[in-house]
Formats: sequence, structure tokens, C-alpha cells
Amino acid sequence: MPNRPLTVAVVGATGVVGRTMIQVLFEREFPVGELRLLASGRSAGRTVSVDGRTHEIAEAVPDAFDGVDIALFSAGGDVSQELAPHAAARGATVIDNSSAWRMDPTVPLVVSQVNPDDLEWHEGIVANPNCSTMQLVPVLMAIRDSVGIERVIVDTYQSVSGTGADAIAELEGQIRAHASGQPKEATVYPHPIAFNALPEIDVFLDNGYTKEEWKVVTESRKILHLPELRLSCTAVRIPVFVSHSEAVHVETREPLTPERARDLFGRVPGVVVEDDPASHTYPLASRAAGRDEVFVGRVRRDPSIPDDRGLAFWVVSDNLRKGAATNAVELAEALIARDWIRARSRRETVTSGVGGGSA
Ligand SMILES: NC(=O)c1ccc[n+]([C@@H]2O[C@H](COP(=O)([O-])OP(=O)(O)OC[C@H]3O[C@@H](n4cnc5c(N)ncnc54)[C@H](OP(=O)(O)O)[C@@H]3O)[C@@H](O)[C@H]2O)c1
Repeated sequence: MPNRPLTVAVVGATGVVGRTMIQVLFEREFPVGELRLLASGRSAGRTVSVDGRTHEIAEAVPDAFDGVDIALFSAGGDVSQELAPHAAARGATVIDNSSAWRMDPTVPLVVSQVNPDDLEWHEGIVANPNCSTMQLVPVLMAIRDSVGIERVIVDTYQSVSGTGADAIAELEGQIRAHASGQPKEATVYPHPIAFNALPEIDVFLDNGYTKEEWKVVTESRKILHLPELRLSCTAVRIPVFVSHSEAVHVETREPLTPERARDLFGRVPGVVVEDDPASHTYPLASRAAGRDEVFVGRVRRDPSIPDDRGLAFWVVSDNLRKGAATNAVELAEALIARDWIRARSRRETVTSGVGGGSA
């Protein structure tokens, strides 16, 4: 931990992810000296209450990042695109939750237990993956490192909190409307989400996939350092408030039994195996909500692939915590522990200045 408390900015502090970030910073006793809570001009002067403490919100503008060491962004892609470079230019290290920088080759995209070494080369911005990718890659890493991966099929069952505060309110409103026999108003999603399943998350791309599905493909490849990984995804929104679930089918290079897979999964930091069909024990969205781990269960052979090279399983995690806030704070902790809070270029300047006295 650093020898001084840090100035930490949370951008999007009134949102569901921003509020969870503040909560996680407190829970993990992150060394916060000053906490700067930023949101749009609409919220400036308002207060948010987290864990019994009240904090005032200021508007996110470039000057708000003067003196900031770490800026946790979760205010959408446009805000990150515009303000993250200003924050980085002022010496802050940005950990960004939006998709704005994830596939930029100069920006590391990092899951704390999968590729923390990639933090080394950041130049002021680090990207936090999409929540559906986040919970998938620690488990795929265990397969990559043991028997190798040929192909992955992922179908997601994603909660409404993944869309944000408005979507939570929309599901609540539709449940109430249904109970009182009123029509279900849909404004956030194109159809009612209550008592439904929507195979449309984010916009449709020319290739027929949604942007959410394609994020799982491209982000997994980058994080796992498998640029040719064969992966296909169907992403579905379901009427659950918190936690995403995923049905995953993997074709492995070498044989992998379910018993060995459970053992390998259980060894990944932050992954918990819950797998006892006899007692109806398997990962559940309701139980994962509020937890930081990735839960995996229903591990079984996929008989459609020969030679014990097919594996099927179910992965569940809290999209607001590990899927967003907890990983972001874990990355900040890793940067501190490795003394990489400064951008690589600034670090090198400091090192050469101290060590060799060069300009
Ligand atoms: N929800 C998830 O599971 C999840 C997971 C991973 C990543 N993310 C990403 O995290 C981001 C936020 O998601 P969320 O679920 O927390 O959304 P949300 O509940 O809708 O909150 C949005 C936040 O962004 C702020 N904001 C909007 N426009 C702004 C502007 N022009 N300048 C400054 N702040 C502005 C809002 O402030 P006001 O209150 O002032 O409008 C609010 O604090 C998105 O990029 C999302 O893709 C979300």
C-alpha cells in the first residue's frame, strides 16, 4: 500500500456501478485520502448516501481531475471518451468501466486474476471488461492453461442492473403494473422485460450479432491473449435484478473430465465451485448477488464432442461487483502493490531521473 493516502475520483457516482464502487472502496479499506464524487451537471450539489455516509456530488469536468491519483469511471462511453484523456493528462490513472477504450491496442484490458501483468504497460488508462466477459474468462483461463481451448459457445442470462438505474426502475414498474392489471410501459428496452427474455443487448451489428455478444468475443480474446479464439455468444436480458448467469460449452484440445475441471476451476482465485446436483446445489443469481466471487457449477461432459473433449457448465456472478466495481478496485489495488499507479512513460521518467540523472 502507498505511503500516502490517495485522491480517488469516482465518475458516475450517482449510478448503480458508481455507488457500488464507493461501497467497495470502503469495504476493502482502500487508502482513500480525498474522495471526489463526480457525475453530470444535473447532479452537481446533490448528495449520495453510501453505507451510512453522505457525500456531495460535483460536475465531471476536466479541472475536477487536478491532483487525482486514481479515477474510476462508470458514466458511459461518451463521458469516458471525452474526459479520460483529460484525467490521464493531469497525471491520474483512469480505470474505465465503459467500452470506450477496451479494444484500443494501447490500453490494457484486465481481469485481476487473469492478466494483471498487462497493467504494467498502461499509459494512464486501464479498461475494465464488460460484465459478461469478466465472469467468463477466469474459468476459461483454467482450461486454456491445462488442456487448451478449441472453441467456446456462451449463452448469457443477464440482469437488468447491467443496463443501469433506469432499467431497474422499469422492471419494478412493470411488475407492479402486471400485478394491478395495468399495461406494462417499456422505455429502456424495446419490449417489456417483466416475465420476458429479450435476445437483444446493446445495438445490432452488421454481422447479425449484438454489440454485447461481440464484446464477449473480442474482449475474451484480448484478455486471454488468444487472438484467434473461436467463440460465439448469444446474450439475453432476463427479469433478474442483479447477477448474470451463463451457460458455457467448451471444446477442449485435450481430454478434460468434469472431475478434473471442477478441481481446476476451484484453484482459480475468486472462483467458487458449487456443484452438487443431488442437493440441488448450483450457482444461483440470487445467491451470487452481493458477493465478489465467480460461481461455477453444473459441470458435465458434453457428449456431442468426442473423446472427453466437450465440457458444459454454468457460471454466475454479481455484475455490479466482480462484473464492474470490485474488479476496478482490485485493479487499483494491484497498481498500488506493483507501484504502477503512474503511466509507464511517467514511471520511466522518474526512474531514469532518479537512477542515472539523465534528462
Ligand atoms: N451496470 C453494470 O453491470 C455495468 C457493468 C460494467 C460496466 N458498466 C458500465 O458502467 C457505466 C455506468 O453504468 P451504470 O449501470 O452505473 O449506469 P447508470 O445507473 O445509468 O448511471 C450512469 C451514471 O453516469 C453519469 N453520467 C451520465 N451522463 C454524464 C455526463 N455527461 N457527465 C458525467 N456523468 C454522467 C450519471 O450521472 P447523473 O446521475 O448526473 O445523470 C450516473 O452517475 C456504463 O458505461 C456501463 O456500460 C455497467
